[in-house]
Amino acid sequence: MRCLDRRSTYNAEESENRIIHGDNLEALKALLPEYEGRVQCIYIDPPYNTGNESWVYNDNVKDPRIVRWLGEVVGKEGEDFCRHDKWLCMMYPRLQLLKRLLASDGVILISIDENEHRYLEMVLEELFGAGNKIETFVWKKSYGGGAKSKHIVNVHEYILCFAKNKQSIGLLELPPNEKLLKYYKFKDDKFAYRGPYRLQPLATNSMDMRPNLRYPITHNGEEVWPEKQWQWSRDRAIAAQENDELVFKEKQGIWTVSYKQYLKTIDGKERKAKAYSIIEDIYTQQGTNEIKVILGDGKAFSFPKPSRLVEYLLNLVTDKNSIILDSFAGSGTTAHAVLNLNKKDGGNRKFILIEMMDYAETITAERVRRVIDGYGEDTKAVPGTGGDFSYYTLGERIFDHEDNLNESIGIAKIRDYVARTEQLPGAEQGEHPAWLGEKDRMGYYFHYQPDQATFLNMDFLATLTRKNEAYLIYADVCLLDSDFMHRHCIRFKKIPRDISRF
Ligand SMILES: C[S@@+](CC[C@H](N)C(=O)[O-])C[C@H]1O[C@@H](n2cnc3c(N)ncnc32)[C@H](O)[C@@H]1O
Repeated sequence: MRCLDRRSTYNAEESENRIIHGDNLEALKALLPEYEGRVQCIYIDPPYNTGNESWVYNDNVKDPRIVRWLGEVVGKEGEDFCRHDKWLCMMYPRLQLLKRLLASDGVILISIDENEHRYLEMVLEELFGAGNKIETFVWKKSYGGGAKSKHIVNVHEYILCFAKNKQSIGLLELPPNEKLLKYYKFKDDKFAYRGPYRLQPLATNSMDMRPNLRYPITHNGEEVWPEKQWQWSRDRAIAAQENDELVFKEKQGIWTVSYKQYLKTIDGKERKAKAYSIIEDIYTQQGTNEIKVILGDGKAFSFPKPSRLVEYLLNLVTDKNSIILDSFAGSGTTAHAVLNLNKKDGGNRKFILIEMMDYAETITAERVRRVIDGYGEDTKAVPGTGGDFSYYTLGERIFDHEDNLNESIGIAKIRDYVARTEQLPGAEQGEHPAWLGEKDRMGYYFHYQPDQATFLNMDFLATLTRKNEAYLIYADVCLLDSDFMHRHCIRFKKIPRDISRF
Protein backbone atom coordinates (compact mmCIF):
# COMPACT_ATOMS: atom_id res chain seq x y z
CA MET A 1 0.00 0.00 0.00
CA ARG A 2 1.23 3.49 -0.85
CA CYS A 3 0.60 6.83 0.83
CA LEU A 4 -0.98 9.71 -1.03
CA ASP A 5 1.22 12.79 -1.26
CA ARG A 6 -0.64 16.06 -1.52
CA ARG A 7 1.10 18.20 -4.14
CA SER A 8 -1.18 21.22 -4.35
CA THR A 9 -4.60 22.53 -3.46
CA TYR A 10 -6.75 24.71 -5.67
CA ASN A 11 -8.96 27.45 -4.22
CA ALA A 12 -8.71 26.31 -0.59
CA GLU A 13 -6.21 25.31 2.04
CA GLU A 14 -7.88 21.95 2.58
CA SER A 15 -10.24 20.26 0.15
CA GLU A 16 -12.19 17.04 0.35
CA ASN A 17 -12.33 16.90 -3.46
CA ARG A 18 -9.37 14.94 -4.73
CA ILE A 19 -7.60 14.32 -8.01
CA ILE A 20 -5.02 11.56 -7.75
CA HIS A 21 -2.38 10.96 -10.39
CA GLY A 22 -1.40 7.31 -10.48
CA ASP A 23 -2.44 3.76 -11.19
CA ASN A 24 -5.86 3.24 -9.71
CA LEU A 25 -4.94 -0.15 -8.24
CA GLU A 26 -2.50 1.55 -5.88
CA ALA A 27 -4.61 4.68 -5.43
CA LEU A 28 -7.74 2.69 -4.49
CA LYS A 29 -5.75 0.74 -1.89
CA ALA A 30 -4.44 4.03 -0.51
CA LEU A 31 -8.01 5.34 -0.20
CA LEU A 32 -9.24 2.31 1.74
CA PRO A 33 -8.26 3.37 5.26
CA GLU A 34 -10.19 6.60 4.95
CA TYR A 35 -13.01 5.77 2.55
CA GLU A 36 -13.90 2.10 3.02
CA GLY A 37 -17.72 1.84 3.04
CA ARG A 38 -18.22 5.60 2.55
CA VAL A 39 -18.54 6.14 -1.22
CA GLN A 40 -22.13 6.62 -2.32
CA CYS A 41 -21.61 6.42 -6.05
CA ILE A 42 -18.88 5.05 -8.25
CA TYR A 43 -19.01 5.94 -11.92
CA ILE A 44 -16.26 4.48 -14.10
CA ASP A 45 -15.63 4.53 -17.81
CA PRO A 46 -12.74 2.09 -18.18
CA PRO A 47 -10.95 1.37 -21.49
CA TYR A 48 -13.43 -0.67 -23.58
CA ASN A 49 -10.79 -3.04 -24.94
CA THR A 50 -11.70 -2.20 -28.52
CA GLY A 51 -8.25 -3.21 -29.72
CA ASN A 52 -7.59 0.36 -30.89
CA GLU A 53 -6.85 1.92 -27.54
CA SER A 54 -3.39 2.65 -26.29
CA TRP A 55 -4.14 1.46 -22.78
CA VAL A 56 -1.51 -0.47 -20.94
CA TYR A 57 -1.88 -3.76 -19.18
CA ASN A 58 0.02 -2.26 -16.36
CA ASP A 59 -0.52 -5.26 -14.18
CA ASN A 60 1.75 -8.05 -15.15
CA VAL A 61 -0.76 -10.60 -16.35
CA LYS A 62 1.92 -13.24 -15.95
CA ASP A 63 2.27 -12.32 -12.28
CA PRO A 64 2.28 -15.63 -10.35
CA ARG A 65 -0.72 -14.48 -8.26
CA ILE A 66 -2.80 -13.84 -11.35
CA VAL A 67 -1.66 -17.10 -12.91
CA ARG A 68 -2.62 -18.89 -9.68
CA TRP A 69 -5.98 -17.13 -9.56
CA LEU A 70 -6.69 -18.04 -13.18
CA GLY A 71 -5.59 -21.59 -12.50
CA GLU A 72 -8.02 -21.89 -9.59
CA VAL A 73 -10.95 -20.05 -11.13
CA VAL A 74 -10.61 -20.76 -14.84
CA GLY A 75 -8.67 -24.00 -14.81
CA LYS A 76 -6.30 -25.19 -17.49
CA GLU A 77 -7.54 -22.76 -20.15
CA GLY A 78 -6.23 -19.97 -17.93
CA GLU A 79 -2.76 -20.72 -19.27
CA ASP A 80 -3.66 -19.19 -22.62
CA PHE A 81 -4.59 -15.60 -22.01
CA CYS A 82 -6.91 -14.15 -24.57
CA ARG A 83 -7.67 -10.48 -25.00
CA HIS A 84 -10.69 -10.69 -22.67
CA ASP A 85 -8.74 -12.49 -19.94
CA LYS A 86 -6.16 -9.73 -19.93
CA TRP A 87 -8.81 -7.06 -19.65
CA LEU A 88 -10.55 -8.95 -16.86
CA CYS A 89 -7.23 -9.41 -15.05
CA MET A 90 -6.91 -5.65 -15.08
CA MET A 91 -10.51 -5.04 -13.95
CA TYR A 92 -11.06 -7.77 -11.36
CA PRO A 93 -8.83 -6.57 -8.50
CA ARG A 94 -9.96 -2.99 -9.11
CA LEU A 95 -13.62 -3.95 -8.89
CA GLN A 96 -12.91 -5.81 -5.64
CA LEU A 97 -11.43 -2.64 -4.17
CA LEU A 98 -14.24 -0.47 -5.54
CA LYS A 99 -16.78 -2.72 -3.86
CA ARG A 100 -15.03 -2.28 -0.51
CA LEU A 101 -15.10 1.48 -0.91
CA LEU A 102 -18.81 1.54 -1.71
CA ALA A 103 -21.24 2.43 1.10
CA SER A 104 -23.79 -0.23 2.08
CA ASP A 105 -26.44 1.79 0.21
CA GLY A 106 -24.04 2.76 -2.59
CA VAL A 107 -24.32 2.15 -6.32
CA ILE A 108 -21.70 1.47 -9.00
CA LEU A 109 -22.27 2.49 -12.63
CA ILE A 110 -19.92 1.34 -15.38
CA SER A 111 -19.87 2.49 -18.99
CA ILE A 112 -18.99 -0.25 -21.44
CA ASP A 113 -19.64 -1.28 -25.05
CA GLU A 114 -20.25 -4.64 -26.68
CA ASN A 115 -16.56 -5.66 -26.60
CA GLU A 116 -16.58 -6.45 -22.88
CA HIS A 117 -20.20 -5.96 -21.86
CA ARG A 118 -21.07 -9.61 -21.38
CA TYR A 119 -17.83 -10.44 -19.57
CA LEU A 120 -18.09 -7.44 -17.30
CA GLU A 121 -21.65 -8.31 -16.39
CA MET A 122 -20.60 -11.82 -15.37
CA VAL A 123 -17.79 -10.50 -13.20
CA LEU A 124 -20.14 -8.01 -11.56
CA GLU A 125 -22.65 -10.77 -10.87
CA GLU A 126 -19.90 -12.79 -9.25
CA LEU A 127 -18.61 -9.89 -7.14
CA PHE A 128 -21.82 -8.06 -6.26
CA GLY A 129 -24.34 -10.90 -6.65
CA ALA A 130 -26.86 -11.20 -9.48
CA GLY A 131 -29.59 -10.04 -7.09
CA ASN A 132 -27.90 -6.68 -6.71
CA LYS A 133 -28.15 -5.78 -10.36
CA ILE A 134 -30.31 -2.70 -10.75
CA GLU A 135 -30.32 -2.18 -14.51
CA THR A 136 -28.34 -2.16 -17.71
CA PHE A 137 -28.90 1.25 -19.22
CA VAL A 138 -28.71 1.52 -22.97
CA TRP A 139 -27.22 4.88 -23.83
CA LYS A 140 -28.10 6.05 -27.34
CA LYS A 141 -24.86 7.90 -27.90
CA SER A 142 -25.30 9.24 -31.43
CA TYR A 143 -28.19 10.19 -33.66
CA GLY A 144 -27.07 8.41 -36.81
CA GLY A 145 -24.15 8.53 -39.20
CA GLY A 146 -22.24 5.30 -39.66
CA ALA A 147 -21.92 5.54 -43.45
CA LYS A 148 -18.84 3.32 -43.13
CA SER A 149 -20.66 0.54 -41.24
CA LYS A 150 -20.90 -2.56 -43.40
CA HIS A 151 -23.89 -4.13 -41.66
CA ILE A 152 -25.66 -2.37 -38.81
CA VAL A 153 -25.00 1.16 -37.57
CA ASN A 154 -24.20 0.87 -33.90
CA VAL A 155 -25.45 3.92 -32.00
CA HIS A 156 -25.48 2.70 -28.41
CA GLU A 157 -23.42 1.49 -25.52
CA TYR A 158 -24.24 0.30 -22.01
CA ILE A 159 -24.06 1.49 -18.45
CA LEU A 160 -24.18 -1.40 -15.99
CA CYS A 161 -25.67 -0.46 -12.66
CA PHE A 162 -25.26 -2.60 -9.51
CA ALA A 163 -26.01 -1.88 -5.86
CA LYS A 164 -23.76 -3.03 -3.05
CA ASN A 165 -26.97 -4.16 -1.40
CA LYS A 166 -30.17 -3.61 -3.32
CA GLN A 167 -32.29 -3.95 -0.18
CA SER A 168 -30.62 -0.88 1.31
CA ILE A 169 -31.33 1.56 -1.47
CA GLY A 170 -34.56 3.49 -1.55
CA LEU A 171 -36.46 4.77 -4.57
CA LEU A 172 -34.29 5.88 -7.46
CA GLU A 173 -35.88 9.00 -8.89
CA LEU A 174 -34.86 12.06 -10.86
CA PRO A 175 -35.69 15.68 -10.10
CA PRO A 176 -38.04 17.14 -12.74
CA ASN A 177 -36.10 18.09 -15.87
CA GLU A 178 -36.62 21.27 -17.90
CA LYS A 179 -38.80 19.47 -20.43
CA LEU A 180 -41.15 18.27 -17.72
CA LEU A 181 -41.16 21.59 -15.90
CA LYS A 182 -42.65 23.25 -18.99
CA TYR A 183 -45.89 21.32 -18.43
CA TYR A 184 -46.35 22.89 -15.00
CA LYS A 185 -47.65 26.20 -16.29
CA PHE A 186 -50.76 26.95 -14.18
CA LYS A 187 -50.95 28.69 -10.84
CA ASP A 188 -53.65 28.87 -8.18
CA ASP A 189 -53.83 30.13 -4.60
CA LYS A 190 -51.73 27.17 -3.38
CA PHE A 191 -48.78 28.28 -5.51
CA ALA A 192 -46.71 29.48 -2.54
CA TYR A 193 -46.39 26.01 -1.02
CA ARG A 194 -47.31 23.59 -3.82
CA GLY A 195 -45.74 25.37 -6.80
CA PRO A 196 -47.32 25.45 -10.28
CA TYR A 197 -49.57 22.65 -11.51
CA ARG A 198 -50.35 20.72 -14.68
CA LEU A 199 -53.65 19.11 -15.68
CA GLN A 200 -53.91 15.34 -15.93
CA PRO A 201 -57.01 13.43 -17.07
CA LEU A 202 -58.93 11.82 -14.22
CA ALA A 203 -60.51 9.25 -16.52
CA THR A 204 -58.57 6.19 -17.57
CA ASN A 205 -59.02 3.59 -20.26
CA SER A 206 -57.02 1.02 -18.33
CA MET A 207 -57.90 -2.51 -19.36
CA ASP A 208 -58.84 -3.92 -15.97
CA MET A 209 -62.40 -2.94 -15.19
CA ARG A 210 -62.94 -1.98 -11.55
CA PRO A 211 -66.63 -1.21 -10.91
CA ASN A 212 -65.87 0.87 -7.76
CA LEU A 213 -63.99 3.32 -9.99
CA ARG A 214 -67.06 3.94 -12.11
CA TYR A 215 -69.33 6.52 -10.46
CA PRO A 216 -70.70 9.99 -11.32
CA ILE A 217 -69.10 13.24 -10.14
CA THR A 218 -71.61 16.06 -9.75
CA HIS A 219 -70.65 19.36 -11.29
CA ASN A 220 -73.05 22.35 -11.31
CA GLY A 221 -75.90 19.96 -10.57
CA GLU A 222 -75.02 17.74 -13.52
CA GLU A 223 -73.64 14.19 -13.27
CA VAL A 224 -70.36 13.58 -15.11
CA TRP A 225 -69.54 9.94 -15.89
CA PRO A 226 -66.23 8.56 -17.20
CA GLU A 227 -66.26 6.81 -20.56
CA LYS A 228 -64.77 3.76 -18.86
CA GLN A 229 -63.69 4.52 -15.28
CA TRP A 230 -61.89 7.11 -13.09
CA GLN A 231 -58.37 6.63 -11.76
CA TRP A 232 -59.31 7.55 -8.21
CA SER A 233 -61.74 6.23 -5.64
CA ARG A 234 -64.97 8.23 -5.05
CA ASP A 235 -63.71 9.58 -1.68
CA ARG A 236 -60.47 10.82 -3.14
CA ALA A 237 -62.23 12.51 -6.07
CA ILE A 238 -64.77 14.22 -3.76
CA ALA A 239 -61.98 15.47 -1.49
CA ALA A 240 -60.10 16.86 -4.51
CA GLN A 241 -63.28 18.56 -5.77
CA GLU A 242 -63.87 20.17 -2.39
CA ASN A 243 -60.26 21.41 -2.41
CA ASP A 244 -60.71 23.00 -5.85
CA GLU A 245 -58.32 20.50 -7.40
CA LEU A 246 -60.59 19.23 -10.19
CA VAL A 247 -61.12 21.09 -13.46
CA PHE A 248 -64.22 20.43 -15.63
CA LYS A 249 -64.34 21.22 -19.35
CA GLU A 250 -67.16 20.78 -21.81
CA LYS A 251 -66.78 20.18 -25.54
CA GLN A 252 -69.79 19.53 -27.76
CA GLY A 253 -71.86 18.41 -24.81
CA ILE A 254 -69.22 16.01 -23.46
CA TRP A 255 -67.60 16.74 -20.10
CA THR A 256 -64.00 15.87 -19.28
CA VAL A 257 -62.50 16.05 -15.82
CA SER A 258 -58.82 16.78 -15.08
CA TYR A 259 -57.05 16.90 -11.76
CA LYS A 260 -54.38 19.40 -10.79
CA GLN A 261 -51.01 17.74 -10.37
CA TYR A 262 -48.84 20.15 -8.39
CA LEU A 263 -45.07 20.28 -8.74
CA LYS A 264 -44.70 19.90 -4.98
CA THR A 265 -46.27 17.30 -2.73
CA ILE A 266 -48.31 18.37 0.33
CA ASP A 267 -45.15 18.31 2.48
CA GLY A 268 -43.41 20.70 0.07
CA LYS A 269 -41.13 18.17 -1.68
CA GLU A 270 -40.64 18.49 -5.43
CA ARG A 271 -42.30 15.74 -7.44
CA LYS A 272 -39.68 13.38 -8.87
CA ALA A 273 -39.68 11.26 -11.99
CA LYS A 274 -38.71 7.66 -12.65
CA ALA A 275 -35.75 7.03 -14.94
CA TYR A 276 -35.96 4.85 -18.05
CA SER A 277 -33.51 2.17 -19.04
CA ILE A 278 -32.84 3.91 -22.36
CA ILE A 279 -30.98 7.19 -22.14
CA GLU A 280 -31.63 9.48 -25.08
CA ASP A 281 -31.02 13.10 -26.07
CA ILE A 282 -27.46 13.12 -24.70
CA TYR A 283 -24.79 12.48 -27.33
CA THR A 284 -21.04 11.78 -27.51
CA GLN A 285 -20.72 14.83 -29.73
CA GLN A 286 -21.76 17.02 -26.79
CA GLY A 287 -18.80 15.69 -24.77
CA THR A 288 -16.42 16.50 -27.63
CA ASN A 289 -17.88 20.01 -28.01
CA GLU A 290 -17.60 20.55 -24.29
CA ILE A 291 -13.90 19.68 -24.17
CA LYS A 292 -13.30 21.90 -27.19
CA VAL A 293 -14.80 24.93 -25.46
CA ILE A 294 -13.16 24.19 -22.11
CA LEU A 295 -9.64 23.36 -23.28
CA GLY A 296 -9.75 25.14 -26.63
CA ASP A 297 -8.92 21.91 -28.47
CA GLY A 298 -11.47 19.24 -29.39
CA LYS A 299 -8.65 16.73 -29.91
CA ALA A 300 -7.17 17.20 -26.43
CA PHE A 301 -9.06 14.09 -25.29
CA SER A 302 -10.87 11.53 -27.47
CA PHE A 303 -14.48 10.69 -26.72
CA PRO A 304 -14.97 12.23 -23.29
CA LYS A 305 -18.40 11.48 -21.89
CA PRO A 306 -20.81 14.43 -21.97
CA SER A 307 -21.07 15.92 -18.46
CA ARG A 308 -24.89 15.79 -18.78
CA LEU A 309 -24.75 12.00 -19.01
CA VAL A 310 -22.83 11.71 -15.75
CA GLU A 311 -25.04 14.38 -14.17
CA TYR A 312 -28.10 12.35 -15.13
CA LEU A 313 -26.69 9.26 -13.40
CA LEU A 314 -25.55 11.17 -10.33
CA ASN A 315 -28.96 12.78 -10.00
CA LEU A 316 -30.43 9.33 -9.76
CA VAL A 317 -28.17 7.79 -7.14
CA THR A 318 -26.63 10.56 -5.02
CA ASP A 319 -27.84 13.02 -2.46
CA LYS A 320 -26.42 16.46 -1.74
CA ASN A 321 -23.66 15.14 0.53
CA SER A 322 -22.54 12.04 -1.36
CA ILE A 323 -18.96 11.12 -2.11
CA ILE A 324 -18.51 10.20 -5.78
CA LEU A 325 -15.55 8.24 -7.09
CA ASP A 326 -14.25 7.85 -10.66
CA SER A 327 -11.09 5.76 -10.88
CA PHE A 328 -10.73 6.03 -14.68
CA ALA A 329 -11.08 9.79 -14.76
CA GLY A 330 -9.82 10.68 -18.25
CA SER A 331 -10.66 14.32 -18.91
CA GLY A 332 -12.44 14.75 -15.55
CA THR A 333 -16.05 14.68 -16.75
CA THR A 334 -17.22 13.23 -13.43
CA ALA A 335 -15.82 16.17 -11.45
CA HIS A 336 -17.45 18.53 -13.95
CA ALA A 337 -20.81 16.82 -13.40
CA VAL A 338 -20.44 16.91 -9.60
CA LEU A 339 -19.58 20.63 -9.63
CA ASN A 340 -22.48 21.38 -11.97
CA LEU A 341 -24.96 19.51 -9.80
CA ASN A 342 -23.74 21.20 -6.64
CA LYS A 343 -24.16 24.57 -8.30
CA LYS A 344 -27.69 23.72 -9.44
CA ASP A 345 -29.06 22.36 -6.18
CA GLY A 346 -26.73 23.92 -3.59
CA GLY A 347 -25.31 20.47 -2.81
CA ASN A 348 -22.04 19.59 -1.15
CA ARG A 349 -21.14 16.42 -3.05
CA LYS A 350 -17.45 15.49 -3.09
CA PHE A 351 -15.47 13.94 -5.93
CA ILE A 352 -12.44 11.68 -5.99
CA LEU A 353 -10.82 11.19 -9.40
CA ILE A 354 -7.93 8.90 -10.29
CA GLU A 355 -6.03 9.09 -13.58
CA MET A 356 -2.76 7.36 -14.33
CA MET A 357 -1.61 9.22 -17.44
CA ASP A 358 0.55 12.33 -17.24
CA TYR A 359 -2.39 14.38 -18.48
CA ALA A 360 -3.86 14.01 -14.97
CA GLU A 361 -2.41 17.48 -14.38
CA THR A 362 -2.62 19.08 -17.83
CA ILE A 363 -6.08 17.83 -18.85
CA THR A 364 -7.95 16.32 -15.88
CA ALA A 365 -7.00 18.90 -13.25
CA GLU A 366 -6.88 21.73 -15.79
CA ARG A 367 -10.46 21.03 -16.89
CA VAL A 368 -11.63 21.03 -13.28
CA ARG A 369 -9.88 24.35 -12.62
CA ARG A 370 -11.59 25.89 -15.64
CA VAL A 371 -15.00 24.53 -14.68
CA ILE A 372 -14.55 26.01 -11.20
CA ASP A 373 -13.51 29.41 -12.59
CA GLY A 374 -15.70 29.55 -15.71
CA TYR A 375 -14.69 28.93 -19.33
CA GLY A 376 -15.50 29.76 -22.96
CA GLU A 377 -15.91 33.11 -24.61
CA ASP A 378 -18.72 35.30 -25.94
CA THR A 379 -21.84 33.28 -26.63
CA LYS A 380 -20.15 30.11 -25.38
CA ALA A 381 -19.08 31.57 -22.04
CA VAL A 382 -20.03 29.36 -19.11
CA PRO A 383 -19.89 30.87 -15.59
CA GLY A 384 -17.77 29.08 -13.00
CA THR A 385 -19.28 26.62 -10.57
CA GLY A 386 -16.94 27.54 -7.71
CA GLY A 387 -15.37 24.77 -5.68
CA ASP A 388 -11.91 23.46 -4.87
CA PHE A 389 -9.77 20.33 -4.99
CA SER A 390 -6.46 18.88 -3.86
CA TYR A 391 -4.06 17.21 -6.24
CA TYR A 392 -2.19 14.11 -5.09
CA THR A 393 0.41 11.73 -6.41
CA LEU A 394 1.19 8.25 -5.16
CA GLY A 395 3.88 8.34 -2.52
CA GLU A 396 6.11 5.71 -1.03
CA ARG A 397 4.96 2.28 0.08
CA ILE A 398 3.60 2.11 3.62
CA PHE A 399 4.37 -1.59 3.98
CA ASP A 400 7.27 -3.65 2.69
CA HIS A 401 6.87 -7.01 0.96
CA GLU A 402 6.65 -8.75 4.37
CA ASP A 403 3.78 -6.49 5.44
CA ASN A 404 5.94 -4.59 7.90
CA LEU A 405 5.73 -0.80 8.14
CA ASN A 406 8.10 1.00 5.82
CA GLU A 407 9.51 3.19 8.56
CA SER A 408 11.57 5.26 6.14
CA ILE A 409 8.45 7.26 5.21
CA GLY A 410 8.72 9.09 8.53
CA ILE A 411 6.64 9.35 11.67
CA ALA A 412 4.21 11.99 10.38
CA LYS A 413 3.03 9.81 7.47
CA ILE A 414 2.90 6.69 9.64
CA ARG A 415 0.79 8.44 12.29
CA ASP A 416 -1.51 9.85 9.66
CA TYR A 417 -1.95 6.46 8.01
CA VAL A 418 -2.78 4.79 11.34
CA ALA A 419 -5.25 7.55 12.25
CA ARG A 420 -7.09 7.20 8.94
CA THR A 421 -7.20 3.42 9.29
CA GLU A 422 -9.04 4.06 12.54
CA GLN A 423 -11.48 6.37 10.67
CA LEU A 424 -10.09 9.47 12.35
CA PRO A 425 -9.83 12.53 10.07
CA GLY A 426 -6.01 12.52 10.43
CA ALA A 427 -3.40 12.40 13.20
CA GLU A 428 -3.88 15.20 15.76
CA GLN A 429 -1.06 16.79 17.70
CA GLY A 430 -1.86 16.51 21.42
CA GLU A 431 -0.12 17.12 24.73
CA HIS A 432 0.92 13.47 24.63
CA PRO A 433 3.34 12.55 21.81
CA ALA A 434 1.42 9.31 21.08
CA TRP A 435 -2.01 11.01 20.90
CA LEU A 436 -3.83 10.46 17.57
CA GLY A 437 -7.35 11.66 18.24
CA GLU A 438 -10.73 10.78 19.71
CA LYS A 439 -13.81 9.10 18.29
CA ASP A 440 -16.96 7.92 20.07
CA ARG A 441 -15.35 8.79 23.42
CA MET A 442 -12.42 6.46 22.68
CA GLY A 443 -8.90 7.95 22.90
CA TYR A 444 -6.41 6.70 20.28
CA TYR A 445 -2.66 6.48 20.94
CA PHE A 446 0.24 5.41 18.72
CA HIS A 447 3.13 4.61 21.04
CA TYR A 448 6.08 4.44 18.65
CA GLN A 449 9.83 4.99 18.68
CA PRO A 450 11.75 4.56 15.42
CA ASP A 451 14.80 2.98 17.07
CA GLN A 452 13.46 0.97 19.98
CA ALA A 453 10.56 -1.30 20.85
CA THR A 454 7.65 0.24 22.76
CA PHE A 455 5.59 -1.32 25.55
CA LEU A 456 2.02 -0.90 26.68
CA ASN A 457 2.59 -1.16 30.45
CA MET A 458 1.73 0.67 33.67
CA ASP A 459 4.52 3.20 33.04
CA PHE A 460 2.98 4.17 29.72
CA LEU A 461 -0.53 4.40 31.21
CA ALA A 462 0.87 6.70 33.93
CA THR A 463 1.82 9.22 31.22
CA LEU A 464 -1.79 9.55 29.99
CA THR A 465 -3.36 12.65 31.50
CA ARG A 466 -6.43 12.81 29.31
CA LYS A 467 -9.52 10.97 30.57
CA ASN A 468 -11.45 8.85 28.04
CA GLU A 469 -14.17 6.25 28.41
CA ALA A 470 -12.07 3.79 26.40
CA TYR A 471 -8.56 3.62 24.95
CA LEU A 472 -7.05 2.07 21.85
CA ILE A 473 -3.29 1.92 22.11
CA TYR A 474 -0.77 0.85 19.48
CA ALA A 475 2.61 -0.37 20.72
CA ASP A 476 5.08 -3.14 19.91
CA VAL A 477 4.40 -5.27 22.97
CA CYS A 478 1.58 -5.41 25.52
CA LEU A 479 2.56 -6.23 29.10
CA LEU A 480 -0.85 -5.72 30.73
CA ASP A 481 -3.03 -8.65 31.62
CA SER A 482 -6.33 -9.07 29.85
CA ASP A 483 -8.48 -8.71 33.00
CA PHE A 484 -6.95 -5.34 33.78
CA MET A 485 -7.39 -4.22 30.14
CA HIS A 486 -11.00 -5.31 30.16
CA ARG A 487 -11.78 -3.50 33.43
CA HIS A 488 -10.23 -0.27 32.17
CA CYS A 489 -11.62 -0.51 28.61
CA ILE A 490 -8.19 -0.65 26.99
CA ARG A 491 -7.59 -2.27 23.58
CA PHE A 492 -4.14 -3.05 22.29
CA LYS A 493 -3.02 -3.18 18.65
CA LYS A 494 0.44 -4.32 17.70
CA ILE A 495 2.46 -2.01 15.46
CA PRO A 496 3.13 -4.06 12.32
CA ARG A 497 6.94 -4.18 12.38
CA ASP A 498 9.75 -6.57 13.20
CA ILE A 499 11.34 -5.58 16.52
CA SER A 500 13.89 -8.41 16.62
CA ARG A 501 16.54 -5.95 15.38
CA PHE A 502 16.44 -3.83 18.56
C1 LIG B 1 -12.31 5.93 -21.47
S1 LIG B 1 -11.27 6.97 -20.60
C2 LIG B 1 -12.35 7.80 -19.48
C3 LIG B 1 -12.95 9.02 -20.07
C4 LIG B 1 -13.73 9.84 -19.08
N1 LIG B 1 -14.94 9.20 -18.69
C5 LIG B 1 -14.05 11.19 -19.66
O1 LIG B 1 -15.21 11.52 -19.83
O2 LIG B 1 -13.12 11.93 -19.96
C6 LIG B 1 -10.40 5.86 -19.56
C7 LIG B 1 -9.31 6.53 -18.74
O3 LIG B 1 -8.84 5.61 -17.78
C8 LIG B 1 -7.44 5.79 -17.64
N2 LIG B 1 -6.88 4.56 -17.09
C9 LIG B 1 -6.72 3.37 -17.69
N3 LIG B 1 -6.16 2.48 -16.85
C10 LIG B 1 -5.96 3.13 -15.68
C11 LIG B 1 -5.39 2.77 -14.43
N4 LIG B 1 -4.93 1.55 -14.23
N5 LIG B 1 -5.33 3.69 -13.45
C12 LIG B 1 -5.81 4.96 -13.64
N6 LIG B 1 -6.33 5.35 -14.82
C13 LIG B 1 -6.43 4.47 -15.83
C14 LIG B 1 -6.97 6.07 -19.04
O4 LIG B 1 -5.71 6.71 -19.03
C15 LIG B 1 -8.10 6.95 -19.56
O5 LIG B 1 -7.81 8.30 -19.36
